[in-house]
Amino acid sequence: MANISTIYKLSFLAFTYFIQVYGTSCPVLECWFVQEKPGRGGGFPAAMIQEKSLLYINTDPESEQTKSQQGPSADISHDRVYYITDPAAILCSSSLHPPEGSVHKPQCEINPFMPQPSTVQWAVPLTDSAHSPIYLQADWYSAALQGLDGQLALSSVMRAPTATKEPTVVLSVSSRTPLVRSRLGEPVVLDCGFWAETSSPLSGSGFTVEWRYQFRGDGRLVLAYDGKTDRFAETKEKGAGLDFTALHETGNASLILQEAEVRHTGTYICTVYLPYLLAQVAVELEIVEPPSLSIFPSPLPLSVPGQVVKVQCEASGFFPLSLEFYWELTGPDGKVRPLGQGSVTGHRQGPDNTYSQTTRLELDSAKLDLGRGGEVTCVAVHPGGTRRARVTLNVIGVNGPSIEDSMAMVAVALGLYGLIKIVSWTFSSGSDDTNSQEKKVK
Ligand SMILES: *[C@@H]1O[C@H](CO)[C@@H](O)[C@H](O)[C@H]1NC(C)=O
Repeated sequence: MANISTIYKLSFLAFTYFIQVYGTSCPVLECWFVQEKPGRGGGFPAAMIQEKSLLYINTDPESEQTKSQQGPSADISHDRVYYITDPAAILCSSSLHPPEGSVHKPQCEINPFMPQPSTVQWAVPLTDSAHSPIYLQADWYSAALQGLDGQLALSSVMRAPTATKEPTVVLSVSSRTPLVRSRLGEPVVLDCGFWAETSSPLSGSGFTVEWRYQFRGDGRLVLAYDGKTDRFAETKEKGAGLDFTALHETGNASLILQEAEVRHTGTYICTVYLPYLLAQVAVELEIVEPPSLSIFPSPLPLSVPGQVVKVQCEASGFFPLSLEFYWELTGPDGKVRPLGQGSVTGHRQGPDNTYSQTTRLELDSAKLDLGRGGEVTCVAVHPGGTRRARVTLNVIGVNGPSIEDSMAMVAVALGLYGLIKIVSWTFSSGSDDTNSQEKKVK
């Protein structure tokens, strides 16, 4: 006995320490109670009742602590105050509890919930028997919450003995990554996990996990796994899977995509079914791939004042289609001059659905102050990152010949001299040959 009380004391100390250090006690949650207005229907769009609500969270079913907390403020009806027991403590997650005075608030909505046998093919086996257990006769609620800074999406189904307003969480489905960004070709994990109250008669008789994909009205089943019969539904999806060990051991239902492709962009809905219950969260996947730049021609030809040099820059392999170009000239003195965006072509889409786009620039030393040239840089700004490509522009013969210009001219002169020499050799030796042939013929 003494040992046990020591353990209690220690864990109490640890708990207090935890609260002091991390501040993850379970403060009250402000929530909206949303319900369809009864007595309508018959072709009318359903009207909604929306009322402010307070959720007191307790993690220990034995504890009466929460009820001694301060009462609700004046604008909240006594009927809309709930004392929730969440043994998994997911409702205590720090992302649902902003610091005092914070402008941003987590989102919370609680609705009445109606348990019913699932009609989804892969979840039907969960409710084989035609009888609904008496356990279902209670007040059921579902709560949907979004944490701060996109750190958590949570959906919980709760059961309260009739008219008690004291629900206990029976099923929670949550994602720690409601928004995922990935580059192309990388493996992607879309986080989803579930927790089921083991003392509930509905847990232990199997579960089903379903991942659906949605994008602009287009939807498809990505994967469905019936944990009761350990079977997969047939889908056309390639390269998507679950970690079964983790699923059965810890309720980790994360979707693993082997290689991110553009077509994966969209919303994924993770639904977990228990007999008569379901809860779901949405995970958004964004594919963001910055462009590769190439500049042409490279190197640029030497130019003289008055000459127009055309240069183009191609950005390829990027996604999404959101790109801005601009050009810059960095002079020998290090000064950067903007050269505008050039003339940008329409985009093209490749077989992998990534985009490419080109900008063309005319470097006209008569119109632009190019000085003696410098580094011409093409800059492409994309949500995936900014990319640059450079090429050197040499304008010769500006402001009287400088040393470099003279050297360049000498080089050109030497080159020309060499060329003339070669040509004359070729011609003279050629004529020698014809001479000798003529001699032979003679
Ligand atoms: C769930 O599984 C995925 C993929 O195996 C892993 O990346 C993730 O960390 C797991 N989540 C938890 C909470 O263990």
